[in-house]
Amino acid sequence: MRLKDKVVVITGAARGLAAKTSRLIASEGGKIVGGDRDIDGLRRVVESINQGGGVATAVKVDVTSKKDMIALMDAAIKQHGRIEVMVNAAGGYFHYQGMIETTEDEWQSVIDSNLKSTFLGCQAALPHMVKQKYGRIVNISSLAARTYSYFLGAHYSAAKAGVLGLTRHIAYEYGPQGICANAVLPTAFRGERLSEIMSPEQEKDLIGKIPLRRLPEAEDIAPVIVFLASDDARFISGASIDVNGAMVTA
Ligand SMILES: NC(=O)c1ccc[n+]([C@@H]2O[C@H](COP(=O)([O-])OP(=O)(O)OC[C@H]3O[C@@H](n4cnc5c(N)ncnc54)[C@H](O)[C@@H]3O)[C@@H](O)[C@H]2O)c1
Repeated sequence: MRLKDKVVVITGAARGLAAKTSRLIASEGGKIVGGDRDIDGLRRVVESINQGGGVATAVKVDVTSKKDMIALMDAAIKQHGRIEVMVNAAGGYFHYQGMIETTEDEWQSVIDSNLKSTFLGCQAALPHMVKQKYGRIVNISSLAARTYSYFLGAHYSAAKAGVLGLTRHIAYEYGPQGICANAVLPTAFRGERLSEIMSPEQEKDLIGKIPLRRLPEAEDIAPVIVFLASDDARFISGASIDVNGAMVTA
């Protein structure tokens, strides 16, 4: 068990990648404190983990609120006394209509839910990690950070590129305190979000661009997050790990 008794705070865990990752972390012995604004969805995930013999708690949060992110950490500390791992996976999106059509509110919302949220999650977790002289931060970016996003647009690409800079800076600033920070950059993977944004024809077209010739599942991404959260990755910090089937290399 690679995460035995490690306390893992993870955002966006009501569905998609973070829900799958939470289940995998629990199977590796980690104790989950999940945060999401969709509290009903999050409770369903948490209950299934607990029924399977894991340990998980649900906390309703808006990841763009500093107060909520501090309350999420407080809940973890109150229950377990420490936070070893912080996974920032929550994020929002809009159907992209084009740069010219993007409203200021849409821009701000995408930047806030993907980039500010990651900053707030790290900022709220770090004091506990510094105190412990131990911490693992895993921030979920995207292939869009290296290239662009046909479907989610300029604000999304900018926010996910910002996550890389933020992650590298944390690795530099808090490395001396025993804290590793890394980013994971998936290409589009199957799940609720993908079926909301892509047609079957668009999926087929995308698969043709991936040298491994299939779309990944969340199950192809979650083990990478677990690895970075574990001590197997203890000398990896400041890295941006591509999980894209060779769609973009180097
Ligand atoms: N789905 C993909 O193909 C893909 C590809 C590359 C990167 N990513 C990134 O991976 C991560 C997970 O993606 P996914 O497809 O599983 O996401 P998803 O859309 O299925 O789920 C996102 C979760 O975040 C929560 N959330 C959104 N805004 C929130 C807010 N302000 N406060 C609290 N909770 C909020 C939602 O309620 C939801 O449960 C995201 O950061 C996403 O940008 C996804």
